[in-house]
Amino acid sequence: MLTKQEGSLVVVGTGISVAGQMTLLTRSVIENADIVFIGISNKVGENVVKKVNPNTVELNDLYTQGKSRAVTYQQMTDRIVDAVIAGQKVCAAFYGHPGVFVNPSHAAIKQVRALGLRAEMLPGISAEDCLVADLGIDPAAFGCQSYEATQFLFRDYTLDPHMTQIIWQIGLAGEATLGMLNADHCKVGLILYQEVLMELYPATHEIILYEAATMPLYGPKIQRFPLCELANCKPTLISTLVVPSLGLPDYHTGRLTKLGLTQEQVINYRKT
Ligand SMILES: C[S@@+](CC[C@H](N)C(=O)[O-])C[C@H]1O[C@@H](n2cnc3c(N)ncnc32)[C@H](O)[C@@H]1O
Repeated sequence: MLTKQEGSLVVVGTGISVAGQMTLLTRSVIENADIVFIGISNKVGENVVKKVNPNTVELNDLYTQGKSRAVTYQQMTDRIVDAVIAGQKVCAAFYGHPGVFVNPSHAAIKQVRALGLRAEMLPGISAEDCLVADLGIDPAAFGCQSYEATQFLFRDYTLDPHMTQIIWQIGLAGEATLGMLNADHCKVGLILYQEVLMELYPATHEIILYEAATMPLYGPKIQRFPLCELANCKPTLISTLVVPSLGLPDYHTGRLTKLGLTQEQVINYRKT
């Protein structure tokens, strides 16, 4: 007697340049799924996934003008979870890393697990990974603060200028409605960012507006300009803003003493 297949979910990330950055494991999960939900922001990427498994359903049709993105994310989650409940082996493929700043991926995994069914996430190459490679910035060298542009403006965060700042969704800075917008709406947000950053960095500090290549034969877009020109830059919906570190902070002598060390010793150890 045939027993009904139990539904399951694997959430995968296709990389930023989908044609070249999809891992072998992700490709195999896509290939072997009963159905693949696609949340990828460009047609080339969508087509790459469709070629691996033609049984796909797009998620981006759920974005509509005037509807809150929060509602859209809930609908995306429902679509994915409903297919799992129906007993399908489901793959949800998002561009980049599926767990980096993607709401429905985390929500769907949580809901599927709450139903007692199997759900897991595979990592993918995120915009931040591309940025580390393209800009030669090591996130651990100075430390790194990585956050969403609007949340940072809304909340009372503490910014450390010794750390590299990676600011996501700068093209929507200050946008509160979660509606369908384009990046022309962020002017006031950029002015505010410039003000906030200039309290901590010199006006001439070089900052970077970054876009990783989304297709294999294209290079990244890297615009470098002084902080005092931030308000005039023109980010797109896939721009990320990078504010390089001012350099390492002073040593913390109290903690060094507790470790039985002096500043001179640490400097000497680092030389040898
Ligand atoms: C909703 S998040 C998705 C991030 C994606 N999951 C990842 O792993 O990179 C969208 C934001 O990611 C960043 N982003 C997406 N594509 C990018 C690209 N090609 N280059 C640089 N940043 C990008 C931008 O900050 C954009 O506003």
